[in-house]
Amino acid sequence: MKRKRTFKSYCLGIESTADDFSVGISTFGGEILANVVSAYIPPEGGIHPREAARHHAEVASKVLKEAFKKAGIKPQNLSIIAFSQGPGLGPCLRTGATVARALASYLGIPLVGINHCVAHIEIGKLKTGAKDPVTLYVSGGNTIVSAFDSGRYRVFGETLDIALGNCLDVFAREAGLRQRVGEPFGAVVEKLAEKGKRLISLPYTVKGMDLSFSGLLTSATNLLKKGEYKLEDLCYSLQETVFSMVTEVTERALAHTEKKEVLLTGGVAANKRLQSMIKTIAEEHDAEFCVVPSEFAIDNGAMITWTGILAYTHGVATPIQKSFVKLRWRLEEVEVTWVR
Ligand code: ATP
Ligand code: FE2
Repeated sequence: MKRKRTFKSYCLGIESTADDFSVGISTFGGEILANVVSAYIPPEGGIHPREAARHHAEVASKVLKEAFKKAGIKPQNLSIIAFSQGPGLGPCLRTGATVARALASYLGIPLVGINHCVAHIEIGKLKTGAKDPVTLYVSGGNTIVSAFDSGRYRVFGETLDIALGNCLDVFAREAGLRQRVGEPFGAVVEKLAEKGKRLISLPYTVKGMDLSFSGLLTSATNLLKKGEYKLEDLCYSLQETVFSMVTEVTERALAHTEKKEVLLTGGVAANKRLQSMIKTIAEEHDAEFCVVPSEFAIDNGAMITWTGILAYTHGVATPIQKSFVKLRWRLEEVEVTWVR
């Protein structure tokens, strides 16, 4: 009997919105074969976009090679190339987009530009099995409460100034904490907060469904400089306050939409205290609590790969001449053709 040969389709995705350069490879069925991340850690201070972009350009070929090796496929086996088209830092986005365009043109295969925020939601759904959740997406650059309605991921609430993860990162830097490879500032704050006992009052700012963290950050930093409180107690109080704020907004979105799942995604989703707060409100509303595994919580190529497959198989492709990066591409601008 003649054996029927089946050819699998593969997508390679590139993530480069901020400090990480990452390449993911997945089958069209959602089997993630590789997810290689190279993080840029600045010698001191915050991320300088051009320095991060230079890092991305330097590591790109190494990360690509490692991803192909892990996936056990060759570039010629790929069917499409996906890349983070925005939102993010210009120089970083442009470096990833250049690599993606070069690969797609060389291989003669379609290019798919992906919205980074949509990708955080889609990888969360893939990895947890959530179908139609209220999503709390919290990272270094974004703080968004969202749910799907009429063809788009609608924004129910968001930050009016800085993102929650950025608030934790700046506080940690002001406190002179050190970031080690593979250990983000948020995780350092989390460890210290576990030892904190005293709840210090900090500004709690929820305006309607929106949030503000900058006044709170200034207040926490001023208290830190005064030196009257233990760092553990300040970390604990900071976490309790900012996490309560996002939990309040998520709960209201859940009550309003009556969805039956809550998904926690983005880099800050790795935080155990935040997970427990969101789990509690999910249970109170008879909703299932879903949290993205930490490998896929931080910025990663696999989320771009998977969203690229969803988009491409539902009619989305990005011609090279329209593949310019979009620094402020908002979540609800994206037509989500693959969800009904
Ligand atoms: P985006 O472009 O989506 O805003 P990003 O570049 O900030 O993403 P992510 O990897 O999604 O990248 O998120 C990084 C953030 O997650 C940082 O602010 C980091 O401190 C925070 N973070 C990581 N682990 C933890 C943790 N355990 N607790 C709290 N925050 C965490
Ligand atoms: Fe991100």
